[in-house]
Amino acid sequence: MSILQGKQILLGVTGGIAAYKAALLTRELMKEGAVVKVAMTENATRFIAPLTFQTLTASAVAVDTFSAPEEWEIGHISLAEWARLMVIAPATANFIGKIAGGIADDLLTTCIMAAQAPVLVCPAMNTNMYRNRIVQDNIHRLTEYGYSVMEPDAGELACGAEGPGRLPTVEGIIEEAASILTEKDLRGHCIIVTAGPTREALDPVRFISNHSSGKMGYALALMARRRGARVILISGPTDLAAPRGLTFIPVSTAMEMKDCVMENLKEATIIIKAAAVADYRPLFSASQKIKKQDGTLSLELVRNPDIISEIAELKGNRIVVGFAMETENLVENAERKLKAKGMDLIVANDLNMAGAGFRTDTNIVKIIDSAGTITALPLMDKRDVADRILSRARELFDERRQ
Ligand code: C5P
Repeated sequence: MSILQGKQILLGVTGGIAAYKAALLTRELMKEGAVVKVAMTENATRFIAPLTFQTLTASAVAVDTFSAPEEWEIGHISLAEWARLMVIAPATANFIGKIAGGIADDLLTTCIMAAQAPVLVCPAMNTNMYRNRIVQDNIHRLTEYGYSVMEPDAGELACGAEGPGRLPTVEGIIEEAASILTEKDLRGHCIIVTAGPTREALDPVRFISNHSSGKMGYALALMARRRGARVILISGPTDLAAPRGLTFIPVSTAMEMKDCVMENLKEATIIIKAAAVADYRPLFSASQKIKKQDGTLSLELVRNPDIISEIAELKGNRIVVGFAMETENLVENAERKLKAKGMDLIVANDLNMAGAGFRTDTNIVKIIDSAGTITALPLMDKRDVADRILSRARELFDERRQ
């Protein structure tokens, strides 16, 4: 279940061209189960009609302090008390300057002044405006006051300029909102997650790989970050966007992945190996494209290092979590692997079950610890599975520290 389910969110829309994107944000927040109310500045209503938000949220849109909808006795105070989170998207340079300067001259600024809930500010403006020292100082001041301010995305802007200033993506804003509302029970942890497949080159155009999508590993990284951990995500090639707010290290081969894990091992408290590492690589990788010939072609393969076993030897107090993906004898194979590789937990996936394994957004897993305790989870979203794995790893870490 989404952390945003049932959460009362006040979305503040200010007067920039990205205001139209706030309609999509409203939709997506509501899809996550949030209860959304919208407040707009007068200028925002020139870019997008209050009726759009009123229709989407089935709720009156607050614009002006002096003509606030009747249901609000004192509009800004009751809205401010109602909200569990305020999201300002887009936040213009003018609006950021106003809140940084303590100005409260309309409904939205007064709401923010009266806010008890956390406030997430999502700037969107022309690149030169964003880089302006006054704007930067104001953003800095807001963060010092405890507001969360997202970095805008970089790219082509509506005004034709290139650079930072685009409103962060809807997914990015929702992720930040979810993160703000999540209890930080992994603060102080540094978690390495490996994800995705590896690619072992045969020649410059061909490789050996597998169907891993990286979704389970990315879900683990995302949830660990939400829960306050410092996260290092070491990922083979996937179609997924690199999540914000964590150290993202793209790799290609198993050897690169191993080097990268080893380099970062010292800092880690928990290592989760969700990557589907190729067990073999070609003995030779041709420098030029291999030409086809008559008859058969034999490839000589050599074993890749088993990264997780090498980590386990050096782990000390760290918790090592591995995955097992099997097509037969799941539990027996997983238990054997857990022992042989010196893991603390193994997450067993049955590839034969619908809704489990590669490419899906859901998974059906069994979490097995080194004492042989098996926790069988039902069909769940990969993010919920991730939460359960992280909680179990944290418990083991705490037990080991005592
Ligand atoms: O033996 P198997 O490859 O099925 O084990 C899976 C687990 O071992 C996964 O956690 C995977 O990330 C890890 N692994 C590894 N290095 C390898 C192969 C697998 O760390 N070369």
